[in-house]
Amino acid sequence: MLEDKFGRRFHYLRLSITDVCNFSCTYCLPDGYACDSDRDFMSVAEISTLVSTFAKLGTSKVRITGGEPSLRKDLPEIIRQCASTPGIEHVALTSNGYKLEKCVEEWAEAGLDSINISIDSLDPRLFAAITGHDSLDTILRGIDKALLLGLKVKVNAVLMRQYNEAEFASFLNWVKSTPISLRLIELMQTGDNVTFFQKNHVSAEPLKNQLLQSGWGQVIRDKAAGPAQEFYHPDYAGKIGLIMPYSKDFCHSCNRLRISATGKLHLCLFAEEGLNIRRYITAGDEQGLQQELVALLGDKEASHWLQDGLTGATKHLAMLGG
Ligand code: 5AD
Ligand code: SF4
Repeated sequence: MLEDKFGRRFHYLRLSITDVCNFSCTYCLPDGYACDSDRDFMSVAEISTLVSTFAKLGTSKVRITGGEPSLRKDLPEIIRQCASTPGIEHVALTSNGYKLEKCVEEWAEAGLDSINISIDSLDPRLFAAITGHDSLDTILRGIDKALLLGLKVKVNAVLMRQYNEAEFASFLNWVKSTPISLRLIELMQTGDNVTFFQKNHVSAEPLKNQLLQSGWGQVIRDKAAGPAQEFYHPDYAGKIGLIMPYSKDFCHSCNRLRISATGKLHLCLFAEEGLNIRRYITAGDEQGLQQELVALLGDKEASHWLQDGLTGATKHLAMLGG
């Protein structure tokens, strides 16, 4: 089992398969994707070696992320490869939803069991202003389709003062009749978005109080749960999760490791650097990779340093899929 010196266990792998994205979210890639990185992304065979090694070290869940993972034509194959790896029980996908309506059946058929879609506004015009794409309608239809197929659906909304602060009521209204888990995420500062962050960061704490005062109960977290605080209400079909990375002890429940699309291990979303393990991956050297992963995990720190304004090497989250 992968465990660090603070006793945290890592059964959850976030695997980026590309850093390319076709959206230009205000807080992430406001000027769109800049083709300035090394685009030597891992092949399906390399991904297979990697996931199989993690599974042997106790990983049971893989989330495929980007950039936008559906821009890779071999995504169904990657899903199938992850889902068929012995030990991997859950395969999830984080996507901007652009291809959801068209492709979700194929993904489900390949073995996907849950999706995480970003929707920062339920107002189509505001959605287009935030992402640069007028595609809220197709994304909502895609979500309905995913629910019909029996996929678990989470929706991510990043809280932003100048954009969606007034939308809490419409999000709640949606959750009333739709069995999704809506994640409200506090905006995080990255290397590229400092001014935007200063203008737009809002704390989720007042929302938490509002939920608790209006009949929502907090879900007791089990030991393996991630960092979201979850809330339920008997009259609502869906749930609300709050992700508050600036809150005290946020990192205590860290249960995940991240791999970039070029095969670097990131011990934290905000780590100073990605650790290069590609040589083991490319060589198909599962034993060497196992030893290296266990050794590198010894360096994982107790917490990020976001509250001190330190964002590591993370210019924007498209680099690593959040
Ligand atoms: N702060 C918070 N959330 C972010 N995301 C991307 N950049 C940021 C940021 N700076 C979210 C996206 C997506 C998920 C992968 O990460 O909205 O839902
Ligand atoms: Fe938006 Fe995600 Fe693309 Fe960044 S990677 S621009 S958050 S869709």
